[in-house]
Amino acid sequence: MSIRIRLLLSFTALLAVAVVLFVLTAFLSSVAITGDVRSMSSFYHIHYSLHPLTDEEESIFLDLKYLAKQDPAQLNDPALLASYDLKLKMVQAGLFVRRDDTMTYASPSLAEPEMGSALPPYDAANNAIRSTLNVGSRFFSYAKFDFPFPDGQQGSLYVMRERSPWAEVVQKLLPILILVLLAVMLLTGLLLYRYVTRSIVRPLDTLRRSAEQIKEGDLQFELIPQARDEIGQLSMTFEEMRRRLNESIQLQLQYEDNRKQLISNISHDLKTPIATIKGYTEGIRDGLANTPDKLDKYVGIIHDKITDMGRLVDELLLYSKLDLKREPYSFERIDLVLFARDAGEETGFELGEQGIEVKLELEANISQHGAVILADRAKMKRVIGNLVQNSAKFMDKDEKRITLRVGIDDAAADTAILEIEDNGTGIRTEALPHVFERFYRGDHARNTQAGGSGLGLAIAKQIVEGHGGTITAASEAGAGTTIRIRLPLYRSENEGQDNKAGDEA
Ligand SMILES: Nc1ncnc2c1ncn2[C@@H]1O[C@H](COP(=O)(O)OP(=O)(O)OP(=O)(O)O)[C@@H](O)[C@H]1O
Ligand SMILES: [Mg+2]
Repeated sequence: MSIRIRLLLSFTALLAVAVVLFVLTAFLSSVAITGDVRSMSSFYHIHYSLHPLTDEEESIFLDLKYLAKQDPAQLNDPALLASYDLKLKMVQAGLFVRRDDTMTYASPSLAEPEMGSALPPYDAANNAIRSTLNVGSRFFSYAKFDFPFPDGQQGSLYVMRERSPWAEVVQKLLPILILVLLAVMLLTGLLLYRYVTRSIVRPLDTLRRSAEQIKEGDLQFELIPQARDEIGQLSMTFEEMRRRLNESIQLQLQYEDNRKQLISNISHDLKTPIATIKGYTEGIRDGLANTPDKLDKYVGIIHDKITDMGRLVDELLLYSKLDLKREPYSFERIDLVLFARDAGEETGFELGEQGIEVKLELEANISQHGAVILADRAKMKRVIGNLVQNSAKFMDKDEKRITLRVGIDDAAADTAILEIEDNGTGIRTEALPHVFERFYRGDHARNTQAGGSGLGLAIAKQIVEGHGGTITAASEAGAGTTIRIRLPLYRSENEGQDNKAGDEA
């Protein structure tokens, strides 16, 4: 059975039980109050026997009663009686006057043929002034006064009002009551059904359709929860699941793409030197290297190519280890200023032969104690080596300059900045976002002998990120390039002591 039908049935059952209980309670409480089932209707009679007339009718009745006591002869005057009757008629009541056994005045609005015989007999003591009476199927409540006329005849005065008889009230009202009850029941049921359908069944339907969509492999949709209730939360969790699944699939596709790219790059980069080596070894085999000089040259080329290939394989290995997070770091506290100075001197010595000047610049905001970072010395050396190598490699000016700059970030005081700036070829704006991708090489790098494997910056990026830092490139084509590394400064629990230790060192 579907939730829809189950809910519909349970609402109907609930309403039916409520109605039955309501009727039962009403019946039982009436029995409890009246003491008997049948006395329910006499309740109605008793009520009207005590209060047969409204206040206005009562005051007219008292006027007439006063007249009957003081000047009963006036009650023979039909004109006067008619005027009182008119007043009573306005408030939906009527007047009857009896003289001995004859009716001398009967209100036309309430007149009934059997009225004369139905009215109670003369009672000089006026014991029961107020009561009710049934005439045929009609039911009346009245107040009466019996008095003697001046000639000794017995006079009776009735002010009467018609009431709906009990049975009639019940007969009239019951079907309406039942209809109203049924209508209310139906309406409530429908409203509840609609509400529950909207808040439970529909969201569940949407969830089911979404799950089917996912099953079919379609993850490109968004499930927006309609409410914050349990189903809304379920939808939210479902949406989160879809999002993550989508992300992981996209990532998987990206990995797959990268892997293919990587294999194609590696095969390409190995193919060229292998072809060269093959060419030269064949040359030797075929006796082309017929002089010791030629042989020396051939072997030299083969050796260079094998060295290149070895370097490529080494870089690849390092890159893949870094990428897989399998390369261990051995962190130590390093003063970036001293470190940069050492690196500058070391490279400056090598590059000086190529006519490249290497300078170290310290920003003003570097404190006298330097900028201490936690770093793997060998790996950071490799980063600086790769960057300086690039600067040297892509240098086209006569006056060749490389500047190492150390400072503290103005915006974030807990970050050290290391910049390597050159006045070389620069990087084209379109190429700038790609230089840190593995195997990416600029046009000039690809076309010249200078070009490497395109792993240098990718490795630098991996290492800097392994230190919790970032690396970015800024460049102006033709003017030069600045590579900026940002690294978190080392802050010990005990700054003062550390600084002292640094001083002593
Ligand atoms: N200082 C620089 N000046 C101009 N172009 C640069 C500079 N540094 C990097 N590039 C550009 O970015 C590309 C990627 O640099 P990366 O160091 O990753 O590769 P590579 O130097 O070509 O090869 P490898 O470093 O593996 O020998 C380079 O090919 C070059 O086009
Ligand atoms: Mg490089």
